[in-house]
Amino acid sequence: FIAGPCCMVIFGVTGDLSRKKLMPAIYDLANQGLLPPGFALVGFARRNYADEDFAAVVLSAVKQHARTPFRQEVWDHLAEGLRFVQGSFDDDTAFATLATTLKDLDATRGTGGNYAFYLSIPPNMFPVVLDQLSEHELAKAAPRPEGYTPWRRVVIEKPFGHDLASAQELNALVNRVFPEEHVFRIDHYLGKETVQNILALRFANELYEPIWNANFVDSVQITMAEDIGLGGRAGYYDGIGAARDVIQNHLLQLLALTAMEEPTSFEPMQLTTEKIKALSATKLVEPLDETTARGQYTEGWQGSEHVVGLHQEEGFDPQSRTETYAAITLHVENRRWAGVPFYLRTGKRLGRRVTEIAVVFKRAPHLPFDQTMTEELGQNALVIRVQPDEGITLRFGSKVPGSGMEVRDVNMDFSYGEAFTESSPEAYERLILDVLLGVPSLFPVNAEVELSWRILDPVIAHWAAEGKPEPYEAGTWGPASADEMLARSGREWRRP
Ligand code: BG6
Repeated sequence: FIAGPCCMVIFGVTGDLSRKKLMPAIYDLANQGLLPPGFALVGFARRNYADEDFAAVVLSAVKQHARTPFRQEVWDHLAEGLRFVQGSFDDDTAFATLATTLKDLDATRGTGGNYAFYLSIPPNMFPVVLDQLSEHELAKAAPRPEGYTPWRRVVIEKPFGHDLASAQELNALVNRVFPEEHVFRIDHYLGKETVQNILALRFANELYEPIWNANFVDSVQITMAEDIGLGGRAGYYDGIGAARDVIQNHLLQLLALTAMEEPTSFEPMQLTTEKIKALSATKLVEPLDETTARGQYTEGWQGSEHVVGLHQEEGFDPQSRTETYAAITLHVENRRWAGVPFYLRTGKRLGRRVTEIAVVFKRAPHLPFDQTMTEELGQNALVIRVQPDEGITLRFGSKVPGSGMEVRDVNMDFSYGEAFTESSPEAYERLILDVLLGVPSLFPVNAEVELSWRILDPVIAHWAAEGKPEPYEAGTWGPASADEMLARSGREWRRP
């Protein structure tokens, strides 16, 4: 799986994502020998950098954030293929320079005319960049005399619109310049090992699939909790909120992988078809004021650190109604899942950072024990620990040692760190490599994005009509209404 000759162009290369994730991932790929020998990376931004300045920025990002050890010879080789093009996105001359630079790299580095354009820029900049790529004949290549047609791909970062209508508009805009099979939308959760492992767990084993349905499953809880606040991110987050930021993409993708049927193969098309079917069957549960919850963090303690509330964070309007916590209830309306609630929740400044999928099973239909012996017996659960302590936990009842027959919950754990000597690649490493290889399985298609907005739009509209989100104290597990949401059906959230 080594990428063939190619070049990646990053627009918005001076941004945070590029520095913390993209540049280090490219170095890590190079360090593992997964990039072609003549790989080139072109940065495009307004800053007035020479190639050497750009190289210094990449080097510092690599030294700070790369996963694999620094090796001078790998760096020297990579650095030879770094170029910087200075300009703004509406600057014709800059795009002409970009085209010349790319041609030059074809000649000097053997990149073969194969280019991936990474748009790490605000979505309102997409139209102008896409138009420029098209006008400068960079979005589509002519066949080469050597007998092949170079590929051109575009990589786009979320947000993919802010509702269904804007997502459709954006998709149409992108597809005007790049056909859908050349569009790679990043949902970095799909690049995580533990997320890909959902498919292995379900479809490589005999153990789970027979009970993975409404006959045995009581409910599914998908949690993405973060301990960080929103200091410094007002520009992106204010007016977006938790539901748009991560439920629309990461959490609905986790739901799709958990709920979908077995694909006929791991061909990208087959996988996508099953995810689309699962998302098409996914529906909100009415009434929304009882089956959804949202909140906004206020000041509090996170461990021993005192932290401020959203309204004191720099850049947030004290009147901001942006939710920092969101929880929704969904049903997957098909034979497998009829009646099983899927609870999705996410929040900033919660008790701790953890992402997990908990499949909670029904209670045994009958317990042949004295009732006092099973007071500490909960429901069986299979918990896919997405992060940070990657692994899987199976919770079940076990006899407490002693002369009685008391039964209590215990955990059986699988942990990546203990089971494997191989280390997990960073999500962006895997995704960038797949872009260069042209493997689209881990990238949501148009239809998935639109279906996700179709699910979420009514919730956002409902909340908009409701007033301010409910406050919750930083360091807790969210607003009381989220607990009430589950309590109505006699359930409660897991404490990860
Ligand atoms: C991003 C969101 O997509 O995911 C952020 O925009 C969030 O708000 C981040 O913090 C979390 O990613 P991870 O991989 O740290 O769970």
